[in-house]
Amino acid sequence: MTGSLAIVGLGPGPDHWVVPEATAVLAAATDLVGYQPYIDRVPARAGLIRHGSDNRVEIDRARHALAMAAEGRIVAVVSGGDPGVFAMAAAVFEAVEAGDHGWRSLDISVIPGVSAMQAAAARLGAPLGHDFCAISLSDNLKPWAIVERRLRAAAEGDFVIALYNPASKARPDRIHQAFALLRDLKAGDTPVAFARAVGRPDEAMTLATLAEADPGIADMSTLVLIGSSETRFIAKIGGRPWLLTPRTYGVGR
Ligand SMILES: C[S@@+](CC[C@H](N)C(=O)[O-])C[C@H]1O[C@@H](n2cnc3c(N)ncnc32)[C@H](O)[C@@H]1O
Repeated sequence: MTGSLAIVGLGPGPDHWVVPEATAVLAAATDLVGYQPYIDRVPARAGLIRHGSDNRVEIDRARHALAMAAEGRIVAVVSGGDPGVFAMAAAVFEAVEAGDHGWRSLDISVIPGVSAMQAAAARLGAPLGHDFCAISLSDNLKPWAIVERRLRAAAEGDFVIALYNPASKARPDRIHQAFALLRDLKAGDTPVAFARAVGRPDEAMTLATLAEADPGIADMSTLVLIGSSETRFIAKIGGRPWLLTPRTYGVGR
């Protein structure tokens, strides 16, 4: 098989957060596959065919991309943030695992991107300076009971927690349930950040404590960070406080 397939991370929003390798791969592609708003972020040029699709059809999209690569096309599957974090890289390899044996001879590459939690952390200071974990609150592909179990384990392990997919129109209550669970297990003064649309024109950052935060402000474009017992605010003169999770654990302030 002579075609190739690259799964490309576009970062969380602005073009200056797209890595140069992604730009080069997109410039060489014959076919773009992905969720339409991500496809729209790639500049048009002669010879580039766009195959935009709805958000919920990842596995169909992956199979289509693999089939085109098998026909000799140079295919780029575009993904927001990093393609390996709750995104298209897993969908493509799931399709490879279950699909045509010949797909295993394809040249498949994953081009990394800036993930939402990295972009949010960069805006906030250094909240991910020590051990952290990422949990998606979407229960489309896993039972809610496993989300609760992981939230409990993350609180028990005193990790900083990055919550992806905190809410959608179909599941407005999950973020409230997650906060109720965490409020039972963690100190009320734990710092929390709601990082919305990081890097985009409508970016909004909201800081609070776990006790006082309003989880209802989280939407599909929000990354929620919940601190560990070591995470603290550092007052900034004339501005929003920074967030710090220091590198050393258990030393105190
Ligand atoms: C399906 S996940 C995709 C994650 C993506 N692959 C990444 O690495 O960031 C979508 C979730 O990522 C988060 N997200 C993506 N872009 C964001 C941004 N610019 N600002 C804040 N959160 C973002 C939100 O939690 C959103 O619901």
